[in-house]
Amino acid sequence: TGTDPGWADEVRALARERDAVLLAHNYQLPEIQDVADHVGDSLALSRIAAESQASTIVFCGVHFMAETAKILSPDKTVLIPDARAGCSLADSITAEQLREWKAEHPGAVVVSYVNTTAAVKAETDICCTSSNAVEVVDSIPRDREVLFLPDQFLGAHVRRTLERENMHVWAGECHVHAGINGKQLTDQAAAHPGADLFVHPECGCATSALYLAGTGAVPAEQVRILSTGGMIDAARATGATEVLVATEVGMLHQLRLAAPEIEFRAVNERASCPYMKMITADALLRSVREGTDEVHVDPELAARGRAAVQRMIEIGQ
Ligand code: 13P
Ligand code: SF4
Repeated sequence: TGTDPGWADEVRALARERDAVLLAHNYQLPEIQDVADHVGDSLALSRIAAESQASTIVFCGVHFMAETAKILSPDKTVLIPDARAGCSLADSITAEQLREWKAEHPGAVVVSYVNTTAAVKAETDICCTSSNAVEVVDSIPRDREVLFLPDQFLGAHVRRTLERENMHVWAGECHVHAGINGKQLTDQAAAHPGADLFVHPECGCATSALYLAGTGAVPAEQVRILSTGGMIDAARATGATEVLVATEVGMLHQLRLAAPEIEFRAVNERASCPYMKMITADALLRSVREGTDEVHVDPELAARGRAAVQRMIEIGQ
């Protein structure tokens, strides 16, 4: 396991033998984050995967992230330590449902969150992540209708930020983030006056965060809606001594490394993504040893989705 002496050295040595770069999302288990060459949010990891010189990418994250890396680099070998690591948000819309939605809105620009399958990306004009969703939608002329999918909370955040009426939002959600609710945030904010609030836009409590800021219950400058990468930057910059974190609990590890002097507290300690946690120390060791699980994307689907993903990594650089 990850606590066995020698595990990290063995993983790194086997990765080097394969000419593999190890990427880990901010929600991965601490030992996986610590052994990786790069840790980051969805957007940062997509960019690194696209630019890496390594011939193999080992993606410690969930399946759509590894698929996105494969779409960007079809000639590289992309491995995910456990191919069963899915995503409830990506599962909330199928390509067939998207085709039907598009037929109801001819001419609309389709913006898909990166948390989607390759088949959905193939039906998409521009992908985005939580880091650049506002910039991506803002890059679309205001007279064009927008279909935004699949996350309703992120969609509502973008719509509110840009005050854009002609933006339709799919009613999908991530079960982990939807479960971080307004009551939990309000109670924690009351119990920890003076704390900053870092809230991921996929959270069910994102609207409550803005309400707390709007009513002055928490000073507006202390309430931040951020991607996981944005939380790291904000942690380094804030003067606060305590931060309440509304996102998946794996995030706390990088936050504590980035700003050890700050006390970080999860708004909901049970907000753990079962898919992210399928990437165990044993699974990673097996992956670099045996070359499992290889990620394949149908070349025709990949070709159709590539432009949308490339626009995503270019916007908000
Ligand atoms: P970001 O890393 O882009 O903030 O995404 C969060 C997430 O839920 C990925 O599954
Ligand atoms: Fe998907 Fe939610 Fe898990 Fe992220 S936290 S991988 S959005 S289920």
